[in-house]
Amino acid sequence: MYSEKVMDHFNNPRNVGEIENASGVGTVGNAKCGDIMRMYLDIDENGIIQDVKFKTFGCGAAVATSSMATELVKGKTVKEALLVTNKAVMEALDGLPPVKVHCSLLAEEAIHAALWDYAEKNNIVIEGLEKPVNDIAEKEEDVSETY
Ligand code: FES
Repeated sequence: MYSEKVMDHFNNPRNVGEIENASGVGTVGNAKCGDIMRMYLDIDENGIIQDVKFKTFGCGAAVATSSMATELVKGKTVKEALLVTNKAVMEALDGLPPVKVHCSLLAEEAIHAALWDYAEKNNIVIEGLEKPVNDIAEKEEDVSETY
């Protein structure tokens, strides 16, 4: 049911933890399943993501997708990080079962929330970044239509 990559990232999640004095922190949840995700970003003065960590109270698919998402945004610019969508993360993991697709949204949205926090703290506008939602269940309907 799960790809080897999903199992690998679930069993050995990368970048779990917290960053003290992070440049941006974002927390999102999904009211339907009760899962919560928090992302920490350390962004340098050139706008490069130097470090990223996550903590989750989430299912296995949420752990695996967040682990992969952190790997994909590390070392990227803020703009490049916006291209790390839940679709890109799922592709990098060789797919997820359809019922688990919504779990991958937690990571994407938590990264966006952390970027939003970073932008607010630094008084900047990140082009293309929409204000994140606290509860991604609001977005789920759009996703189930797409997949
Ligand atoms: Fe809630 Fe997977 S079931 S994130």
